[in-house]
Amino acid sequence: MNNIPPIVHNVPSIEFAYLITAFLFYVALKYMNTPATAKLGNRIAMVGMLITVVGVFIGTDSDGLKLVNLAPAQLAIIVSGLVIGGLIGAISAKRVKMTAMPQMVAIFNGAGGATAALVAVYDLHHSLQLNPVLPPEAVASIFLSVIIGCLSFTGSLVAFGKLQELISGRPITWPGANIMNIAGFVAVIGCMVVAFFNLPGFPPTTAFAIVAVVSFFLGFLFVLPIGGADMPVVISLLNAFTGIAVAAGGFALGNNALVVAGAFVGASGTLLTLLMGKAMNRPITNVLFGAFGAVDTTAAAGGGGAAMNVRSASADDVGTMLAYASQVIIVPGYGMAVAQAQHAVKDLADQLEAHDVTVKYAIHPVAGRMPGHMNVLLAEADVPYPALFDMEDINPQFSQTDVALVIGANDVTNPAARADKSSPIYGMPILDVDKAQNVVVLKRSMRSGFAGIPNPLYEDPKTVMLFGDAKESVEKLAAVVKSL
Ligand code: TAP
Repeated sequence: MNNIPPIVHNVPSIEFAYLITAFLFYVALKYMNTPATAKLGNRIAMVGMLITVVGVFIGTDSDGLKLVNLAPAQLAIIVSGLVIGGLIGAISAKRVKMTAMPQMVAIFNGAGGATAALVAVYDLHHSLQLNPVLPPEAVASIFLSVIIGCLSFTGSLVAFGKLQELISGRPITWPGANIMNIAGFVAVIGCMVVAFFNLPGFPPTTAFAIVAVVSFFLGFLFVLPIGGADMPVVISLLNAFTGIAVAAGGFALGNNALVVAGAFVGASGTLLTLLMGKAMNRPITNVLFGAFGAVDTTAAAGGGGAAMNVRSASADDVGTMLAYASQVIIVPGYGMAVAQAQHAVKDLADQLEAHDVTVKYAIHPVAGRMPGHMNVLLAEADVPYPALFDMEDINPQFSQTDVALVIGANDVTNPAARADKSSPIYGMPILDVDKAQNVVVLKRSMRSGFAGIPNPLYEDPKTVMLFGDAKESVEKLAAVVKSL
């Protein structure tokens, strides 16, 4: 009996912490599948992260020795970093406006990329101390980490600048841009090859420095030519890149928690990017290398369908129509986010339900400017989740609906996507609001939406426009319904 080896033999206690963390991350992602449990998912992921952080401080290696032995001054620096970083994160998350969330994700992602690059600097230093000739696997993970980290950092900064309108949202291009990109790419690959084969006369530190500087500039070159409105897709892709950089750093450090966390971020970011492209019916190559995302200033200035023949209605007319309907489908879009009308919308829905009107919400996957934008806003206003319907589920219901109430949505309702082969959004799946008996559109003017194109829905004889800020209009409608 005594000869049977123990099942768990000299496994460092930190590996248990990593395993629990990986499991909790997995559970957290599952919970994030639906808005109803997303907050809980977030908290589970936070606990997972905490376990690893604490584990690193108190965990032991396979010899039973503590993983880190810090001098008090070093500990003080780390704790200060945790406190300062935590405070900045908490305060900015509390303060940020929902419409500015993409910028915040961009800047946080940039910080993640910069961290991955700095960890790569440490890895290089540490590995060279152990062995002046870097093993190939160390070259692969360290160089990958610094390339993607630097590229993500500067790319995210540009994305932030475009969304915050610190730099022009137009695609910024210049002669010879492609040649610069190719030259940069070749330099990076060349330096990696030199380090990989440990070629004489070219120390790995020099190759590393060149790679870091070139990747830093490649981030600018990569994102500047992309239009501001496509930044959410770019941020999602850069987020995936950061995940891969973190996973590569995990390999270099032999840290399984980093490998797992990085792989989760890399995989989910890639999927999200592809899904966004699919929902817009645009290949990712078109987002990254096409000029579709250019901000159309002509349209923004009023050119998008200014000459259209539309009918406008008063809040009294629309309120009465809604109150006597049997089913109303609310179609929220970017304008609801801009106007912060979600609470007013919930109030209107309550008033309608008091009149025995069935109220449903139609959620287009790319309504707004970031994934899940509408879900988050409506959840904030306590709209019950069962009232929210995905596009595939709600589209067949429009034909049995008395009123489709479009609140600040434009492109996601544009029938040209179905019918007009010359339209830039042709093929994008849309909400079939034009199949409802009546359509009411709430917006401020005849300006176009993100795609910068006119919307023939507004000329449909079934459609009436209620012009004004979405929040004010919805409040007026709620007052009318309440008075009836
Ligand atoms: P848009 O097509 O951008 O239309 C929004 C409309 O809201 C505008 O026509 C605007 O008209 C109106 N609006 C703005 N502020 C308003 C206010 N305060 N009150 C009332 N109306 C207001 O929005 P959408 O239908 O939600 O479509 C989203 C677009 O973004 C799609 O083209 C999609 O491909 C793109 N996109 C989305 C994502 C994600 S992940 N969601 C990512 C990248 C791109 P007025 O100016 O006349 O008021």
